[in-house]
Amino acid sequence: MKIPSSQSEYLDAYKNSVANPENFWAEIAEDFTWKKKWSEVLQWDFHKAEVKWFIGGKLNITENCIDRHLPSRANQTAILWESNDTQEPSKKITYQELSDQVCKVANMLKAHGIKKGDRVCIYMPMVPEAAYAMLGCARIGAVHSLVFAGFSSGSLVDRINDSKCKLVLTADGAHRGDKKIELKTIVDAALQHCPSVEKVVVLERSHSKPAMKAGRDFWWHDEMKKVSTVCPAEVMDAEDLLFILYTSGSTGKPKGMVHTCGGYMVYVNYTFRTAFQYKEKQIYWCTADVGWITGHSYIVYGPLSAGATTTMFEGIPSWPDMGRFWQVIEKHKVNIFYTAPTAIRSLQAAPLSFVEKYNLSSLQVIGSVGEPINEEAWDWYHKNIGKGNCPVIDTWWQTENGGFMISPIANVTKLKPAFASLPLPGVQPAVMDEKGNELLENNIEGRLAIKFPWPSIARTIYGDHQRFKDTYFSTFPGKYFTGDGCKRDEDGYYRITGRVDDIIIVSGHNMGTAEVESAIDEHPAVAESAVVGFPHDIKGQGIYAFVICYQKPNDAEKLRAEIKETVSKIIGPIAKPDKIQFVSGLPKTRSGKIMRRILRKVAEGDTSNLGDITTLLDPNVVEEIKNGAL
Ligand code: WTA
Repeated sequence: MKIPSSQSEYLDAYKNSVANPENFWAEIAEDFTWKKKWSEVLQWDFHKAEVKWFIGGKLNITENCIDRHLPSRANQTAILWESNDTQEPSKKITYQELSDQVCKVANMLKAHGIKKGDRVCIYMPMVPEAAYAMLGCARIGAVHSLVFAGFSSGSLVDRINDSKCKLVLTADGAHRGDKKIELKTIVDAALQHCPSVEKVVVLERSHSKPAMKAGRDFWWHDEMKKVSTVCPAEVMDAEDLLFILYTSGSTGKPKGMVHTCGGYMVYVNYTFRTAFQYKEKQIYWCTADVGWITGHSYIVYGPLSAGATTTMFEGIPSWPDMGRFWQVIEKHKVNIFYTAPTAIRSLQAAPLSFVEKYNLSSLQVIGSVGEPINEEAWDWYHKNIGKGNCPVIDTWWQTENGGFMISPIANVTKLKPAFASLPLPGVQPAVMDEKGNELLENNIEGRLAIKFPWPSIARTIYGDHQRFKDTYFSTFPGKYFTGDGCKRDEDGYYRITGRVDDIIIVSGHNMGTAEVESAIDEHPAVAESAVVGFPHDIKGQGIYAFVICYQKPNDAEKLRAEIKETVSKIIGPIAKPDKIQFVSGLPKTRSGKIMRRILRKVAEGDTSNLGDITTLLDPNVVEEIKNGAL
């Protein structure tokens, strides 16, 4: 497979990928281990929201992530693990050990009745076992559904029930900084409402000695003793499900995005190697959690399919102090470092001495993902972490995309701060105006859509294809709509400006305003609420809630704290509103629709021009909201 590594190779690859996408991707796919070759490369119809790649091809992704590397790199580190606890030794798991552990997990799952196609929920801390769990499922064709271990039991219930998981892999607890999260207790609370779950396997991590339910709950270490390190890989169709991963929607419950085996593998491998220009023996570190798509594609499947050494870090950037990331880079001589703007901004706010203490000269490429990176953070990252000579790879993509879409290629693409820059080969963006016309020229701003399928596009929303079609393929018929706004400058460079729907991105986590509102409304004192995002120095966006109570609160502070706690319990601490303003009414049109435009302005602190408010049912409410702004 040819990875473009110069400007002219990129341009050639790009042209070729547009002129002849099927040949382009078939050539790349040839380089993997297939049990049977595909008969047709691509079938697609964006009007029906249908895409298939490598039709008829048979494979197992774990053979591509593990077995095919064994002859040449059995003793190379596959996973480099760094504990939350600075005193605990790091672990280096070789490809051979990875093979043994993944096969054991696969055999353990089989022993507990899991078969191809069954869904398994993984709710685990950032330990190597989380990767074994994912790959163990993939080995036998079970479909994994990871839930970020910061979500509460309510979120876990929704996700487990939506895909009817049969088994849960979890741990007694997780360490994050100086906090301990009792994962098993959260699972126990969830499982009272999850009839599909028959078994739970619990990894011992925090030694918190949770209650174990006989016949349902088993210890990981006991079960793993009983099984062998050999497990044949299930033969999977290219279009069989690999995993489901939930992402917030602008309405209703989270959407279970479905990714399949063949196209996903080909695309995450190609984009990992292309954007970062990954070279043999480099140490790679992505700081995401495996519970998010970035962890799936660029901690586990992308790097391991490329035979890389991938780092998993259990801790957080600010503990025991703000130098933790830099200390880990020095300790493991990390070459490629990939993190999120929210982390960069919080570390930028700390004294520079935390950076200067460490030798970061191993770094060659530094990346960013999850939300727009502002120019100031980009410059700081480039200058202080990359020392001015590491390209900043600002990768724009989404859970739905599976892999990088618009991103610079390290040492190939000329960089512009805060621009995700150019589409990778195979990606055909279109900028649309509000009427649905494609803007063909440069120097424009609009909504970002994609015109042609790429191999790792999500295939559907689990159990709800209509919603998939409505959400992504109905705004601009015949195109995939991203939900993001963007600018395209005179050089054809893309700058993502943020969401244009009711999703807010808080510290890189997508949050549907509707989801947060319904959690707030669960508090017995609350009659109605409306949530919007507002600019936040560290988090990118913060959550601002306008809340109507049945009665004027006696103790506003106390009620605010209670509402935050309610949201934290129902969704998770990441969804807690930053600001809560109590109001007597919301700005609604005569048809009852909340005019969020006005609320956004108030939340941003910009009330000088609220635009036309004459269509409101009660324009007076705007004055009250303006005056009470926090
Ligand atoms: C935003 C994360 C600007 C965007 C991989 C997108 C970005 C949403 C960038 C998807 C970036 C992600 N620049 N915005 N480099 N990367 N986004 O599904 O709004 O968690 O639609 O996937 O994050 O978030 P998700």
